[in-house]
Amino acid sequence: MALRNILTEKESVLHKVCRPVTEFNERLWTLLDDMAETLHKSDGVGLAAPQVGILRRVFVMDLGDGSGVIEVINPEYLVKKGKQEDVEGCLSCPGEYGITRRPRYVKIKAQDRYGNEITVDGEDLKARCICHESDHLDGILFKEHVIRMLEPGE
Ligand code: NI
Repeated sequence: MALRNILTEKESVLHKVCRPVTEFNERLWTLLDDMAETLHKSDGVGLAAPQVGILRRVFVMDLGDGSGVIEVINPEYLVKKGKQEDVEGCLSCPGEYGITRRPRYVKIKAQDRYGNEITVDGEDLKARCICHESDHLDGILFKEHVIRMLEPGE
């Protein structure tokens, strides 16, 4: 495993639409392992492949609730329900936070590292994280959902 460099929003790769993963091979597994290590080192809850310069539809999350790393490949929404507003930030936008409006509950289908179909669902923080990371795969940053940016120190 190796740490990857997290790119910031000024890099064009963060504003592009990522391609689906078609090969579930060791190259993908190395990427997933590296992304998990990079996520833990950065103290984030989610990290998407374009944030480490890879234009593929891959993200990892770790909500810090003891359930470990969730690997998500080629996600598609099945359900979005309700609304929530809460503070959000992004490892690619260091020091910037804002209040976003997101669905309260989401359910996605996706693939695991071997290409098997999986479903992932969650509410509150987990729903926000799924939406935030899925957006990264379409080149969308959380600021596009912000109702109000927080002032420094707020
Ligand atoms: Ni982000």
